[in-house]
Amino acid sequence: MDYNKLWDNLIRAVMTCTNCQLCKTRTNSVPGEGNRDADLMFIGEGPGRDEDLSGRPFVGKAGQLLDKMIEAIDLKREDVYIANIVKCRPPGNREPNEGEARACLPYLRRQVYLVRPRIIVCLGATAVRYVIDKKAGITRIRGQWIERKGYWLIATYHPAALLRDPAKKYDAWEDFKKIRAKLDELGSKPPRQDALMETDGDE
Ligand code: URA
Repeated sequence: MDYNKLWDNLIRAVMTCTNCQLCKTRTNSVPGEGNRDADLMFIGEGPGRDEDLSGRPFVGKAGQLLDKMIEAIDLKREDVYIANIVKCRPPGNREPNEGEARACLPYLRRQVYLVRPRIIVCLGATAVRYVIDKKAGITRIRGQWIERKGYWLIATYHPAALLRDPAKKYDAWEDFKKIRAKLDELGSKPPRQDALMETDGDE
């Protein structure tokens, strides 16, 4: 099936999802956004109020800080793909519970499969828990590279944690410098097979 169709189906499934109770309180699902062919993907926890209202990930205060951090490593928000563990806002911004996270993870797996980023950055403890290691604490694991199934994984503090405790920004900046260096070391991935097919017969 056509690559864009696969994306359309995924986004539609997220928009109409009723797999957990969060669908009852959401204004909008927040599937994720960005460069669907990105080398770098960020995974947060779940939508907050601004994201629930707009249907877009990381657009509130934490999102504005994330944008600045992305720009600090010479990238633009449009260059990367941004997603969350859960696609609907947990009421009152509580942490998603395990059932909600597990119900939503197939969507994230699909996004990773379609984007096939070189590097996946877990923002904060919830992303670490469901993507890297159920038991690892963010303070211990942050800044360390883990290679898994051809992806390079790294965790850093969630931008909301940096807003609460600006002293953590030093460590976060170290992590972002590592991410920049790894991107340079790895280079861009080869084009998708189907993207090559799309250009067949063009000349
Ligand atoms: N926090 C998150 O984890 N994700 C968002 O999209 C916004 C804030």
